[in-house]
Amino acid sequence: MAKDSDEKKNASGKPLRSEDWFTPEDEIQGFIHRSWLRNKGYPDDYFRKRPVIGICNTWSELTPCNGHLREFAEYVKRGILEAGGVPFEFPVTSMGETLMRPTAMLFRNLASMDTEETIRANPLDGVVLLTGCDKTTPSTVMGACSVDLPTIVVPGGPMLNGKYKGERIGSGTFLWSLKDRFKNQGFTEEDQIEAEICSARSAGHCMTMGTASTMACMVESLGLTLPGAAAIPAVDARKRTLAQLSGRRIVGMVREDLRLSKILTREAFENAIKLNAAIGGSTNFIIHLTAIANRIGVKLELKDFDTLGRNIPLLVNLMPSGKFLMEDFFDAGGLPVVINQLRDQLHADALTVNGNPLGENNQHAECYNREVIAPLEEPFLENAGIAVLYGNLCKDGAVIKPSAATPKLMTHKGRAVVFETIEEYHARVDDPDLEIDENSIMVLKGVGPVGYPGMAEVGNMDLPVKLLKKGVTDMVRISDGRMSGTAYGTVVLHVSPESSIGGVLGLVETGDTIVLDVPNRTLHLEVDDAELEKRRQAWKPPKPHTDRGYVKLYTSTVQQAHLGADLDFLVGKSGDKVNRESH
Ligand code: FES
Ligand code: MG
Repeated sequence: MAKDSDEKKNASGKPLRSEDWFTPEDEIQGFIHRSWLRNKGYPDDYFRKRPVIGICNTWSELTPCNGHLREFAEYVKRGILEAGGVPFEFPVTSMGETLMRPTAMLFRNLASMDTEETIRANPLDGVVLLTGCDKTTPSTVMGACSVDLPTIVVPGGPMLNGKYKGERIGSGTFLWSLKDRFKNQGFTEEDQIEAEICSARSAGHCMTMGTASTMACMVESLGLTLPGAAAIPAVDARKRTLAQLSGRRIVGMVREDLRLSKILTREAFENAIKLNAAIGGSTNFIIHLTAIANRIGVKLELKDFDTLGRNIPLLVNLMPSGKFLMEDFFDAGGLPVVINQLRDQLHADALTVNGNPLGENNQHAECYNREVIAPLEEPFLENAGIAVLYGNLCKDGAVIKPSAATPKLMTHKGRAVVFETIEEYHARVDDPDLEIDENSIMVLKGVGPVGYPGMAEVGNMDLPVKLLKKGVTDMVRISDGRMSGTAYGTVVLHVSPESSIGGVLGLVETGDTIVLDVPNRTLHLEVDDAELEKRRQAWKPPKPHTDRGYVKLYTSTVQQAHLGADLDFLVGKSGDKVNRESH
């Protein structure tokens, strides 16, 4: 019985990790590890000569955006087998953005633990991550980083363009216009029912530049996918080809010992931040990228998002900032065009999963539609990026996405109208007697990581109906929550520290004056320190949501938004070693 073969070793001459399970010194253990797997009919050589690849699948019928990934795994398997590897598909916790209560974000860290522990505990040499809906990309990448095996990501792809009565309608973005359509544009219930299927007409994730598309572009920018992966629609045959080629490539990565930590350098993160600015990506990017950096051990601070992205022009005309959708982006050439145009500002030599530098991978990318991707000389906006604000209202920072905001509101002084909870907001916002006008600043408390719990996407509060009727289209809004990547408006988010743990946001009262100054990056509550101290003495923390289970673990260990909202004990990595045999 051959115990070793050259193919079982990687480029540095080390035996593959899986060998420890399948050809160990102790033949009884070897029998146990092989025999049960052989009930699938695998020949003996599967366990002796080949890299073992895990396909981490976030497929779930409760995550409609990932509903096609079960089938996708078969294409990945094809590629793995062709390259001489052995595939094992496994499920991990999947989070559907639209169904999960109180918010899918509450479970991102739980899913990352599931991914991390499943990878480490099993005889895997490399991993393919199949992702789609918002949280399924960061959760699996975070978990994989804490193990640090060779890893490649296959993003599931966006849905086809939404089309309703000839109008291009974007996932989520259309939704945020519904209230206004009902109030001002004669929209009926029948229209709504028809629009529902029109905005979700194929497999795939949201096809706006919302969080899912942002995450797909993020992994491509970081070098974790094959070139051009992010924008290919879920139902396009080329997405299947990509899945198959990714399966082939992961086997090579195992042989080369090309681990996540070799790709995820500080330079890779800087590239991702600049490219996110150029595509007008979601504000959720900040929290997820920070959490990933903290797992792999790269130092990244909130202000880096501002300083690195500040001078980057907006090159992509996609909703919610612009007017097109992911299918149009793909047809125009996709992210490779943006990477190529921005190459002088990027670390073009950053390594990617195919073993080549990012710049070289994309050097021949051409743009096929200048309405969708602008040339560097004529961007849709001179300075995109995300502004990070500081001030007495947000000692550890807050963020705003200028490309989704109204220019004249970027410097604004107004009277605070405070909602203590999201329930209070819903109960009062449309009250005709509510004292509010277009110059007011809407303030929402209790929607941060601890407060909601899970930091919900409710920061883009709908405007009061009476103001919509007057034709008001935007107002300054401030909260410790997030907003959907598909949303827009002059919305200050991620206020840290959050109100529920004693942040100054929790002390704001209706009638206070707040000054927002985005050009100078400040957010100030005009209340003197003595008065704030008096309010602090009277402040009482909200009652905990529960005294047991995962939610208790989460609320007692979650970090604040500016640190990535990971659980404090999950930060960092512990590698792939397990020192004890099973049983
Ligand atoms: Fe899944 Fe938007 S709801 S990607
Ligand atoms: Mg979302």
